[in-house]
Amino acid sequence: MAGKTMKLLLVNGPNLNMLGVREPEKYGADGLDSITALVKEYAAGQGYKLEAFQSNIEGEIVSFIQSAGMNAAGMILNAGAYTHTSIAIRDAILAVNLKFVEVHLTNVYKREEFRHKSYLSDIAAGVIAGFGADSYLLGIRALINILDKERH
Ligand code: DQA
Repeated sequence: MAGKTMKLLLVNGPNLNMLGVREPEKYGADGLDSITALVKEYAAGQGYKLEAFQSNIEGEIVSFIQSAGMNAAGMILNAGAYTHTSIAIRDAILAVNLKFVEVHLTNVYKREEFRHKSYLSDIAAGVIAGFGADSYLLGIRALINILDKERH
């Protein structure tokens, strides 16, 4: 199957452009570009084309999900701090009915209480948190497994 079903999105929210520089003891030494390259490579090996997007601005993330989400089969989403605050991102995902896996580099449940609340988890296919850059790879693997099962 071509087109819509073979396209995936990788969306990163605020401050994730600072990976590698930002609190490396928490978030690791890898930059977002190298994580993105690994996720893209895995997706390509499974026959999926992955489009990556990062923004520090909530409305830009909403607009990207609204437009790109219409033609995608699924999404890996690390909404950063917007995870804990954004009804708008939640509503955008629901508007385009997009299957997604929520990922976090850190185990948010080990951290401050305000990070325990997610506006996304209950509408996600699943949540992966606490494995550093591996969270993204586990996430893309899980997402593709679900999509492949649905197609067969
Ligand atoms: C994060 C966790 C969030 O609480 C935080 O605001 C981030 C990164 C993570 O990947 O661990 O920006 O989503």
